[in-house]
Amino acid sequence: MTAMPIPHAALLASRATPRGTEPLTTLVEATTAGLAGGTRGGLTPELAMRYDGDLRIGMCSDRPTVIANFASTLDGVVAMDVHGRTGGAEISGFSTSDRFVMGLLRAMSDVVLVGGAVARRARKVARTPGAVAPEAATAFTELREALELPPHPTTLVLTGSGDLDPGLPGFAGRDAPIVIAAPDAIAARLARAGFGRNVSIEPLRSSGPQHAVEGALDVAARLGARVVVSEAGPSIFGDLIRAERVDELFLTLSPQLAGRGPGEHRLGLVEGTALWPDLATWTRLASVRRGGDHLYLRYQFEEPTR
Ligand SMILES: NC(=O)c1ccc[n+]([C@@H]2O[C@H](COP(=O)([O-])OP(=O)(O)OC[C@H]3O[C@@H](n4cnc5c(N)ncnc54)[C@H](OP(=O)(O)O)[C@@H]3O)[C@@H](O)[C@H]2O)c1
Repeated sequence: MTAMPIPHAALLASRATPRGTEPLTTLVEATTAGLAGGTRGGLTPELAMRYDGDLRIGMCSDRPTVIANFASTLDGVVAMDVHGRTGGAEISGFSTSDRFVMGLLRAMSDVVLVGGAVARRARKVARTPGAVAPEAATAFTELREALELPPHPTTLVLTGSGDLDPGLPGFAGRDAPIVIAAPDAIAARLARAGFGRNVSIEPLRSSGPQHAVEGALDVAARLGARVVVSEAGPSIFGDLIRAERVDELFLTLSPQLAGRGPGEHRLGLVEGTALWPDLATWTRLASVRRGGDHLYLRYQFEEPTR
């Protein structure tokens, strides 16, 4: 695999001229069937105005509902490189509307799931709603109060290597809860590593790496989570689909083409798991919003994933 350097100037320029700053307009809103566990939602007037409509999330009665959130280029790329130097922001063009939707999903969730690799590089490991959309931070707080949720969702970091250090800058904040889920022996080591009081370590009670995402969702269930938003990358997303644990996908389609040079790999929406033909996965379109040239698509997974 050839690692193509991304020119620093190009990254800076993309930050300087954000795209997708237009407000959201609803184009399609399907009536969605409720789940056995009822729904969570009912937006406050301010958030309903910003989202151009209400948002409710169906809850399962026997396990947490899992919602994945991604931004993708028109040609299906979700990160410009495979080394994690780029993510959703470069894909969406630093879109404020995309960040608002991300914040809204965090605001409605109990747990935000991320992978260890992303946590290692994060400026802040804890994923709070207001951090991505400061202009709506107060409204997110009001929504969580109305939904009787704690001030912040718990950030759940899934790691196999345990290569996470309390000295990383991302762990400097102490205000929001973080749980690191790791295989037993790694968890025992991390528990002695001296993380702050807002960080707890949970062993993955799963049999082998191929079942790690199920173990992570079991941790979320033990925390009492009813709604989990996955902000993990395409490897964990593939594992979640293979485990038939994804209920919904919120996908921002960014009006950008990334391309791939010869021998160059850029991550697509699902990596590491072949779905078609044995695990061919179909979804239902639940809503479409537009914000300028960006599309905000909500899909619900068909049985048996639901
Ligand atoms: N465009 C978007 O919306 C979007 C969204 C999310 C992410 N991204 C981008 O996607 C890239 C990351 O995606 P990715 O597919 O490489 O990684 P990923 O799916 O986010 O997570 C991989 C990490 O999860 C942990 N993990 C994976 N499988 C595991 C297992 N079986 N047991 C325990 N831990 C396990 C590992 O952590 P350890 O290394 O600590 O063991 C691994 O590094 C980044 O560039 C990110 O910015 C883009």
